[in-house]
Amino acid sequence: MGTFDPDFDAALGSEASFGLDEPAGLDAPFDLDEPFDRAGTGSSKWARTRGRPGVIAMGLADMDLPGPPAVARALAARAAHRAYGYTVCDPAGRELVAHWYRERHKVAVDPDWVLLLPFGPRTALRLLLAALAPAGPVLFPTPEWGGFAQLCRAAGLAYQEVPLARDGGGYRLPVGEFARRRGGAVLLSSPHNPSGRVWSRAEIRGLAEAAAGHDGVLVSDEVHGDLVHPGRGLRQPVTVDAAGDLAARTVTLNSVGKTFNTSGIPSCFALVPDPALRSRLTDLMAGYGLWEGGLLEQVVQRAALRHGGPWLDALLARLDAGGRQLAALLGAAVVSPPQASYLLWLDAAALGLPADRARAALLERCALEASDGTDFGPGGHGLLRLNYALPGPLLSTAITRLRTL
Ligand SMILES: Cc1ncc(COP(=O)(O)O)c(C=O)c1O
Repeated sequence: MGTFDPDFDAALGSEASFGLDEPAGLDAPFDLDEPFDRAGTGSSKWARTRGRPGVIAMGLADMDLPGPPAVARALAARAAHRAYGYTVCDPAGRELVAHWYRERHKVAVDPDWVLLLPFGPRTALRLLLAALAPAGPVLFPTPEWGGFAQLCRAAGLAYQEVPLARDGGGYRLPVGEFARRRGGAVLLSSPHNPSGRVWSRAEIRGLAEAAAGHDGVLVSDEVHGDLVHPGRGLRQPVTVDAAGDLAARTVTLNSVGKTFNTSGIPSCFALVPDPALRSRLTDLMAGYGLWEGGLLEQVVQRAALRHGGPWLDALLARLDAGGRQLAALLGAAVVSPPQASYLLWLDAAALGLPADRARAALLERCALEASDGTDFGPGGHGLLRLNYALPGPLLSTAITRLRTL
């Protein structure tokens, strides 16, 4: 996606509802190699290394790379206006999401499906589960990013974790197993956190059919969906591309949070083709005083989706190269080759680390802080997740340390 399309710009129409013009310079040049560090920013990821000088934080899933200048400039311009009162939800935001999918994924999304949510994906999933009130257990593949099991427990919903299949090419979705079990809903992380696996269209379609076959819904959590590495395929979102005629039985969740590294200003968007489910969800939100739109969230989302394309292209080229370099270095220890995002899913034993204390051993031997596989459910024992979205010099240091294993 290149710079912003001026015809579309004109068609947005309701810009004025923000009351402020977009500041100049949102398409400013950027350099992913500019010196960058997060010291003093309260980063949760780096807080995990506190008291251990020299340790590199590779655990939590956010990036240590400078984000798109457009987001910073739009936020600065909005912050300079000293009214931060209640804000309307700009309907142009729905068009913008549809435009993003059309331009980047060549997939047509109906703007009416779009809900612009002023909270992060975790909260969205929790509210979705409540609005769905599934009649049977919630099914999802394991390992998973950890939230699915946690959210089902919080919602008091029965759930079943279905082990992922694996062949020489990495993980596969066990579609037959999903069809056999009588689930009330299916949750999918697509692409997969923790492995960075990009599921095939046929696999996703199979899960949508399995869910619909049991009168349930497939919720596709695609917050890593715009981080698919070049040439790895998969048109997003599942709601329209893979599910097709089953779209009304699917929900897609996405966010600029992972894509543009803005998770500290929580927001996301859901594509909900079923109007009844949409209104159940917004009613439920209203009960918590949550309304679509949100002051800073809309500023961030608008700047990212309108101006962030070139930055994202540069980021993806870098993540692809980093993932390939690490996969070549670590060989058989890579459980499923990374195809999206910035995550590497590793078998501790194959790295020569004890399965029962892999995270601690990696910290001691390489001064690298990873996420422990057990955070990702029953399929994660003896595994580690490494986040390689690091500035070049830090990534080189991490690679040098990994070579010593
Ligand atoms: C696949 C997936 N879904 C949802 C979330 C939750 O995002 P947040 O904590 O920003 O709401 C994450 C965060 O890591 C994730 O990786």
